[in-house]
Amino acid sequence: MFRIAFLEPKIPPNTGNAIRLVAATGSELHLIGPLGFDLSDAKLRRAGLDYHDLASVVVHADLVAAWTAWEPASTGTRVFAFTTRASTRFTEVAYQPGDVLLFGTEPSGLPAAVLADPRITAELRIPMLAGRRSLNLSNAAAVAAYEAWRQHGFAGA
Ligand SMILES: C[S@@+](CC[C@H](N)C(=O)[O-])C[C@H]1O[C@@H](n2cnc3c(N)ncnc32)[C@H](O)[C@@H]1O
Repeated sequence: MFRIAFLEPKIPPNTGNAIRLVAATGSELHLIGPLGFDLSDAKLRRAGLDYHDLASVVVHADLVAAWTAWEPASTGTRVFAFTTRASTRFTEVAYQPGDVLLFGTEPSGLPAAVLADPRITAELRIPMLAGRRSLNLSNAAAVAAYEAWRQHGFAGA
């Protein structure tokens, strides 16, 4: 089980897509507030279709609460920060169940202060052609989640 974490997501359909993603892959979605929408938002529910009952979603009030829940110091939990500014490709990591794949907010990505946190295991980049700014948040999460799951033989599928 991998943990897909969105820091302060703002666009409901992205989180709706991620709900379908974690339902499809057996991952867990961690939403880190403050959120830019209400979880009952119609656009979020529409994008998540009828997968809400099949998805495991955890909401943290803020990043401090998320770090407290993940407890990297005592559990060895690894937290990988996905950012366009990284130099390491996301495919270079051997993912382990329990890993947190952390993604930034839609407009601005992960703040420098979050990336500088020593509890971040590594910063990872999904390759793109030159001159492209970024992938859509939910697309980036899907690419990463499927790579992690692929490495484990699509366990359970
Ligand atoms: C819409 S993007 C944010 C755009 C922001 N200007 C940036 O460069 O990070 C939302 C999130 O998707 C992830 N993301 C998008 N494209 C990525 C890429 N090529 N490599 C790694 N992460 C990516 C990052 O976590 C990012 O914070």
